[in-house]
Amino acid sequence: MEINELKQRLKTVRILVVGDAMLDRYWFGTADRISPEAPVPVVRVNQTEYRLGGAANVALNIAKQGVGVTLLSVRGEDQEGDELESLLHNNNIDSQIIIDKKLSTTIKTRVIAQHQQLVRIDFENSPAHEVLDQTLERYAALLEDSDVIVFSDYGKGGLEHITRMILLATKSGKCVLVDPKGTDFEKYRGASYITPNKAELRNVIGSWSSEDDLNDKVQLLRDNLDLDGVLLTRSEEGMSLYQAENISHFPTSAQEIYDVSGAGDTVIGILAVMLGGGCEIDQSVTCANRAAGIVVGKLGTATVNFSELFAQDD
Ligand SMILES: Nc1ncnc2c1ncn2[C@@H]1O[C@H](COP(=O)(O)OP(=O)(O)OP(=O)(O)O)[C@@H](O)[C@H]1O
Ligand SMILES: [Mg+2]
Repeated sequence: MEINELKQRLKTVRILVVGDAMLDRYWFGTADRISPEAPVPVVRVNQTEYRLGGAANVALNIAKQGVGVTLLSVRGEDQEGDELESLLHNNNIDSQIIIDKKLSTTIKTRVIAQHQQLVRIDFENSPAHEVLDQTLERYAALLEDSDVIVFSDYGKGGLEHITRMILLATKSGKCVLVDPKGTDFEKYRGASYITPNKAELRNVIGSWSSEDDLNDKVQLLRDNLDLDGVLLTRSEEGMSLYQAENISHFPTSAQEIYDVSGAGDTVIGILAVMLGGGCEIDQSVTCANRAAGIVVGKLGTATVNFSELFAQDD
């Protein structure tokens, strides 16, 4: 599809992201002495930064293309949750976040001194069943107005009802994308495309001894789960798309690698945008691959905007 036509179409596209939203907190400081209490450095923090993580980062990647996006997730009733909401608001992401009073908002805090990460501290716990039932109700109401549904599974328990959710979406003819986690992919049955990385795939199909062996195993999985396609992201080897009649490979376009974290969120986010805009799967994957190649060249969980992404096409 030609770029101006895509731009035009994207104005009316709406994408729904469902999954485990997280907040990334960075504490930057200096470490110039060892603690008298234990053999650990003392970091004097002089800067705090918050970024959207997990499903919220997928939504951010979509919002950066100027595309309408809604995030359905859960959070705790805490300051971290407020911070998450305010970041969503500032980035034009429609927040449909349900509060679970017993939950701590998932937050990953990195302590960084002299450009070196010293420790990461995580807070997380699983949402309550009643709250997840509420999520399912809210989902049913949001589905109608959405063109593409993205499930961002980070294994934090927010997607208890994913099988039902996928069924509802496919019944109304929506395109469904899943970034999977865990050892049981049965719950993703009927999705349009899933986007595992190598480790996530290995957890489900086991190791492979050759490219032919990999092909056979992935095609069996795709067939069993009734998926249109499996998009395997292969880090420095780019990505491979497995469809019923076809397997295609997309080498990475990355020039320099600074930080690969969040590349998977970019892949599924851009894939959703392109498919939502009515592009064919091959063009959509090419574009998602290009976007991932750009973000790995940036520091931190980075995103790419529409003009950067299509700079070469203008
Ligand atoms: N080291 C790398 N060199 C070149 N390209 C890379 C590299 N790492 C990631 N990419 C690009 O990013 C895409 C997604 O990366 P990867 O397969 O590591 O996904 P992921 O493990 O889900 O990422 P995440 O860190 O977000 O979980 C790759 O398909 C590729 O296009
Ligand atoms: Mg990933």
